[in-house]
Amino acid sequence: MLRPGVAPLALVLLLQARGAPAQQPGAAATTPPTPTINVVPRPDSVEPWPGAFVLRNPVRIVLATPSRRLREIAALLQEWLEPSGYRVTVVHGTPGRGDIVLGLERAAGDGPEAYTLAVAPGGIRVAAPSPEGVLWGVQTLRQLLPPPGEAAAAVSIPAVTIRDAPRFAWRGALLDAGRHFFPAPVVERFVDLLSRYKLNVLHWHLTEDQGWRIEVPKWPRLTAVGAWRIELDGTRYGGFYTLADVRQVVAYARRRGVTVVPEIEMPGHSVAAIASYPWLGCTGDSIPVANTWGVFQDVYCPRERTFAFLDDVLDEVVRLFPSRYVHVGGDEVPKDRWRACADCQALMRAEGLRNEEELQAWFMGRIGRWLAAHGRRLVGWDEITAGPLPSDAVVEVWRDTATIAQVTRQGHDVVAAPESFTYINRSPGDLTLAQVYAFDPVPAGLAPQEAAHVLGGEATLWSEGITPANFDLMAIPRLLAFAEALWTRGPRDLADFRRRLTEGAEPRLASLGAAVGPEDRDILRMTPGYDSISNSVGIRVAIGVPGVAVRYTTDGSAPSAASPVFGDSIRFASAGTYRLQGFYHGQPLGDPRAVTIAPSLARGRPYTLTTAPSPQYPGTGGRTLTDGALGSTNLHDGLWQGWQGPNLEAIVDLGASQPVTAVEGSFLQDARSWVLLPRDFTVWLSDDGSAWRAAGTATHDQPPERGDPFVYRLSVPLPAGARTRWVKVRATPYGLLPAWHPGAGHPAWIFSDEIVVR
Ligand code: ACM
Ligand code: ZN
Repeated sequence: MLRPGVAPLALVLLLQARGAPAQQPGAAATTPPTPTINVVPRPDSVEPWPGAFVLRNPVRIVLATPSRRLREIAALLQEWLEPSGYRVTVVHGTPGRGDIVLGLERAAGDGPEAYTLAVAPGGIRVAAPSPEGVLWGVQTLRQLLPPPGEAAAAVSIPAVTIRDAPRFAWRGALLDAGRHFFPAPVVERFVDLLSRYKLNVLHWHLTEDQGWRIEVPKWPRLTAVGAWRIELDGTRYGGFYTLADVRQVVAYARRRGVTVVPEIEMPGHSVAAIASYPWLGCTGDSIPVANTWGVFQDVYCPRERTFAFLDDVLDEVVRLFPSRYVHVGGDEVPKDRWRACADCQALMRAEGLRNEEELQAWFMGRIGRWLAAHGRRLVGWDEITAGPLPSDAVVEVWRDTATIAQVTRQGHDVVAAPESFTYINRSPGDLTLAQVYAFDPVPAGLAPQEAAHVLGGEATLWSEGITPANFDLMAIPRLLAFAEALWTRGPRDLADFRRRLTEGAEPRLASLGAAVGPEDRDILRMTPGYDSISNSVGIRVAIGVPGVAVRYTTDGSAPSAASPVFGDSIRFASAGTYRLQGFYHGQPLGDPRAVTIAPSLARGRPYTLTTAPSPQYPGTGGRTLTDGALGSTNLHDGLWQGWQGPNLEAIVDLGASQPVTAVEGSFLQDARSWVLLPRDFTVWLSDDGSAWRAAGTATHDQPPERGDPFVYRLSVPLPAGARTRWVKVRATPYGLLPAWHPGAGHPAWIFSDEIVVR
């Protein structure tokens, strides 16, 4: 017999289905509290009722169905309540008034993760067809509780019935532990964040060019050598997860409904492994663990002993990770080494492979068969679709949404992570909350059977610029927008999402000590620019959140000056190297930045160009080539100008005739970005700006195949005693990109940051 006030879920549903929101027993007859249901992701349906449930201390959680997993979920709820001062007991049996009831009920929702949460004045009931649904219902309940730390006595939850189910089964986030290391407790904290917002996959990117992060006892140098790199400033950086760390994270995640999908990258992004065991690469050369960002040429050589090594690594991986899915990378694999490797070429002939792309497909196919034999499914980045794939391979699409459609039409399952929507490692000024919120993993125009191949999606936190210091700022709030995009069906309402974010999620996150970043501004932006008043280059600082500071040295050695505030510019008036570093609450934020101002007779002098640079690469404006500032190997650092096709021709006016000893053109080569050194660099001098005398031409022997970006200076020495007022320079572009280049037939770019006159 029912006792008053404890409507079992089925009854609650019946009452409500009839549309008869009768006053619930025990509801206050006076003014009902205004319901504030601020759940993220937005549930399918939220029906408020009069009255409220008052959470009493002690709390009793009743398991209406015997189940070990339910008991585990109840224990989680207990862990979440106890810090607020509640005493919690978990019992099996008959619910009473005021209890929180967890139960398995087939009718409580449709699908393995569906649930119904009923809050009534007499009790709370979370019911679902499966335990995972109950977990998500409990996470919803957790969001209805006040932020931990608020007075335990006064907690009242407005009566409501929430029915909910996810749109997609694969709701993931990628954590790149390779480029920066995130200690296991930081990973667990992230898992907790995922689970709160009903994300259920942690894609743990464990190996990279810049670091190998997982212990493999059979191959100890992976962590003795490969987990450590020497930074550009000489410091040693690194870390790795022990087997015990991994087991603990996996268990922690499992309890919270999160599957950990490990990623072991191959054949590319493997410099750290090759640094540990040089015979894994084609050349056998000793190379260091990478300490810059980018795509590197050294990749696994597909020899038998490499596969024996990878089998050992994957053996360990399948022992540690129960996930049915194992990610093996496959993205961004330069083929330079394979083209030049006798063993690779012999293998291609033996296997009848026509080119290196087919060799990569062969590589992935072999790994796919190994995984299938071990009961696992291969997941790889969308480059793996360039060749034949195991039919059960899952393709993680990162390049664009058109590829999602294409891959589903090939009949493969897809995890959608297009960089223009889900790469939340991009600065929030560059990929805004609104853009992430608008993400739909299923591109328009897919037929239903194609759309069914879209398992879900992932938000990525690639960690070139992310460390534990700014992790929260980058992940939050955009991760929550992503969670809603993956979970919630029906129309999106950004304004309503923002309201739930500010009123519901943010206070709770703040009480956890999580920092919430900006939604559409950079956390810290340092933009080089030219100031015509001081006639010098500088860096304008834009600070996006409180707590961010910038320290810099003005002469390369002096202690840091006080932080500039928003909109300030740091001016570089004299030659030298200036170093800048952002901080968040005292912890370094992103990479340090160095700007070198070259001594040059041309510094600050006006010049004319025959052809303006591409508007895509404006540098610091009209004085880029004489501002003194030398760029880095990053063509996007704001100090480079680019021309695609024409000669670079400039005439610099030094202002007065003066002694000169050399003229130097500074150029970038970044072959993968279609930027090649000019073929030559010619200099003329003039005393009147109209009659020119040739002073010489510089050439170089740098091959266009050299893949890693580098800066190269072409210098024309001048005869002793030379004087001039005007200097004319011309750099001839490489011309059309050669046949082996992916951009073959298109003109190469010239990139220049400076013309230096000595
Ligand atoms: C990727 O961003 N290279 C997967
Ligand atoms: Zn090879």
